[in-house]
Amino acid sequence: MWSYIQSSLLLLSPFLPSSLIPLSDHHPHQIHYHGPLTDGGIWHEAYERSRDVAKEMTLEEKVNLTTAVTGPCQANSGGVPRLGIPGLCFNDGPAGPRYTDFVTQWPSAFTAAASFDRDLIEERAKRIGKEFRGKGINVELGPVTGGPLGRSPYAGRNWEAFTPDPYLSSTLSFLTVRGMQESGLITCAKHYILYEQEPVCDGPLDGEGGRTGCRDVSSEVDDKTMKELYLPSFAETVRAGTGAVMCSYNKINGTAACESDDALNRIMKDELGFKGFVLSDFGATHSTVESALGGMDMELPGEYFYGQRLLKAIEKGSIPESRLDDMVHRILTSWYASKQHTDYPQVNYQKYDLSDSKEVNGLVFKNEHRDVREDNAIYARKVAAESTVLLKNSGILPIRGIRRIGVFGTDADYPSTLSGCGPDLFCLVGSKRRYWNGTVTIGGGSGAAYADYIAAPIEAITLKARQQGIRVDHVLQDDAAHFGSIGWVAYQSEVCLVFVSLFLVEGWDREHLKLDKGGEELIKQVEKNCAGEVVVMLHAGGQVIVENWIDLPKIGAVLFAGYPGQETGNALVDILWGDINPSAKLPFSMGKSPNDWPKDNIVRDMGKGAYPIAKFTEGLAIDYKWFDKHNFTPRYEFGYGLSYTKFEFSGFDIEERYEKDRDTVQRTNERYEGTRGLYDTLFVARVNITNIGKTPGAEVAQLYMSFPKSEVEQPPKHLRGYAKKYLEVGQMGTVDFPLRKKDLSVWDVKKQLWKIPRGTFTFGVGNSSRELPSKLTIEIDSSY
Ligand SMILES: *[C@@H]1O[C@H](CO)[C@@H](O)[C@H](O)[C@H]1NC(C)=O
Ligand SMILES: *[C@@H]1O[C@H](CO)[C@@H](O)[C@H](O)[C@H]1NC(C)=O
Ligand SMILES: *[C@@H]1O[C@H](CO)[C@@H](O)[C@H](O)[C@H]1NC(C)=O
Ligand SMILES: *[C@@H]1O[C@H](CO)[C@@H](O)[C@H](O)[C@H]1NC(C)=O
Ligand SMILES: *[C@@H]1O[C@H](CO)[C@@H](O)[C@H](O)[C@H]1NC(C)=O
Repeated sequence: MWSYIQSSLLLLSPFLPSSLIPLSDHHPHQIHYHGPLTDGGIWHEAYERSRDVAKEMTLEEKVNLTTAVTGPCQANSGGVPRLGIPGLCFNDGPAGPRYTDFVTQWPSAFTAAASFDRDLIEERAKRIGKEFRGKGINVELGPVTGGPLGRSPYAGRNWEAFTPDPYLSSTLSFLTVRGMQESGLITCAKHYILYEQEPVCDGPLDGEGGRTGCRDVSSEVDDKTMKELYLPSFAETVRAGTGAVMCSYNKINGTAACESDDALNRIMKDELGFKGFVLSDFGATHSTVESALGGMDMELPGEYFYGQRLLKAIEKGSIPESRLDDMVHRILTSWYASKQHTDYPQVNYQKYDLSDSKEVNGLVFKNEHRDVREDNAIYARKVAAESTVLLKNSGILPIRGIRRIGVFGTDADYPSTLSGCGPDLFCLVGSKRRYWNGTVTIGGGSGAAYADYIAAPIEAITLKARQQGIRVDHVLQDDAAHFGSIGWVAYQSEVCLVFVSLFLVEGWDREHLKLDKGGEELIKQVEKNCAGEVVVMLHAGGQVIVENWIDLPKIGAVLFAGYPGQETGNALVDILWGDINPSAKLPFSMGKSPNDWPKDNIVRDMGKGAYPIAKFTEGLAIDYKWFDKHNFTPRYEFGYGLSYTKFEFSGFDIEERYEKDRDTVQRTNERYEGTRGLYDTLFVARVNITNIGKTPGAEVAQLYMSFPKSEVEQPPKHLRGYAKKYLEVGQMGTVDFPLRKKDLSVWDVKKQLWKIPRGTFTFGVGNSSRELPSKLTIEIDSSY
């Protein structure tokens, strides 16, 4: 959601008082429903149960299920009390439950992706899922699985998603859905699809600093790029069995995503065979009939195009009743399949509200402030440390043998309050807006998660230093007025720790790729005066250009910590003192200049037509694929990250080895050449890693693949495998990279299917996308 949803709309029935129903009725021309009706797929039993119970329902009851309103949760759909079907509770978000207390603020997805650690990512997901369950939330509005994917470094919401690389994003999306749903929670893969920027707005800010005069952007992308770049992560969430998918704010080829027959019916429900329900983002519904026929199964609050208006449209015959039944079947199938009908906690919190109980439309809701955190702080800390990327190190880290530390920057401090600028964390940044004061642990808007404490860097560093008899002084300010004291403290410090940040908020794309406030100035001031070396900590939700300071003589080390969540300071101390050896890798490329990316790859003006248009002309070449294709040298490439030890790769090999896909929950209907399944493994690559340094640690081995030369549209290389291995000093270990049929395939636009191109495939393995010392080729002359 990008607009502030008023909490005063506390209504439990989708049948609004008539005064609230917009008068202008929609008069769509009669269109046919092209979408498949669900049969439940693997959830066939749940589907049959849904069908049986739906037969008992009146039209009004069916419509009730399809319409959510603002309630004790961020959204509550209607139920059918007469038949024992409760309404469902929907709540953000991807990094932990929002709008409630005694929950964990986890590292954001973009941050966790840097761990390149499948097990850790799935553990994170399982634990987040259990927290949602504990609060009685039926459907989590997350994870963000490739919408945005991260096409533009200027996009304000990239930090909510994993990474612009579709392979990494796909694997993490699969594991996250599987992990989160393990507790019985229903996930909602979002935002579907081609949602790569925020709306364009040209009105003045409203009284609360919100945007006005906004128009949704239409994303225009060719079929091949859609299938090979933007769709795969969503395909993986369907395969993992996500119960829900959220349609996005943008338009696709001029049609709102939530009424796009192409995106919802043809691709999501037919090609991917999705059996659950599609729900709209808050306020992303723009019609009744077109949305219903386009494939949207439930409306979240905002516009009220379902409810009474859906009922009328069914009664008038503009929408066949079979389509309404399909919506109901889809919603109830996910609910029965998740087994929430047998055993699931009641909703026991109310968003925004601290009162112990509240009566809404005759129903009493209790706010129990239930503590659902268990020992999650330990894991949040581990994920944050394992996701901290060491970009530069002269040897100053890990900290040893020094006696005086200086700490600088508001980003090392506690935030002014836990909920900084109101319940949405829609903290405003930029010229007319306020900055986030204190350490940045998460971004703002629907991707925010609430914390009950923040382990601020200054706290964690002070405690650690005190145990070791180290003196710590600090100036936790950024502005020029404090440069005098900053200089003086730096002058007395053997190690100067500088904290800088970039706070991103939903609704606002970036205007530049620099740090917030005077981040660069602060670094330069400290560097100029520091008695020893400077360690720079970056808390940022995306791209930062570091060229103005990174090569200054006293910049000894740089850490990219992303948005690490509530355990930020503790995780950082683990890395700074070497209790955890850094092993994270950048899940995106850090460029040297704004000119390193395609010009205008984010649309900022309204255009001449009815809406702004974003043409994805770069096709498949985003992030490192763009840099590779156009010979830009990044400052730090995708997959890059240092360690306190050294590793060596040996014995790189690939063998043909067929293994049937065993982890698919729901099959997709994607078409392909040959007989082997699209998700079956055909080859396994393998490499040995040896820790040849003096410290135990983990390395992320990465496998990149180049398609045969005949595939002229393909960028030079694609990530096709990664594996993290922990090794003691001198120890050697082997990692496997299974290559599935889909990993070797391209989308044939003419035949409308996946196929393996014939010819020479080249594979490289190494420690980043640009360090691939071992290469191998294989010839493929079969469709498998
Ligand atoms: C619609 O759902 C709400 C919330 O579950 C419920 O109170 C109401 O009775 C339902 N209406 C009908 C017609 O079943
Ligand atoms: C959008 O239009 C382009 C160009 O006609 C087409 O290739 C693509 O498949 C369309 N996308 C969708 C989702 O229908
Ligand atoms: C940050 O601090 C400044 C100065 O005290 C204040 O004006 C501003 O409102 C604060 N911003 C937030 C988001 O709390
Ligand atoms: C990556 O491996 C290369 C050798 O292929 C080595 O020179 C380099 O130091 C390694 N980089 C990192 C970040 O470990
Ligand atoms: C790689 O490791 C395996 C054991 O995992 C061993 O059999 C093989 O000889 C090693 N190859 C090289 C080149 O070190």
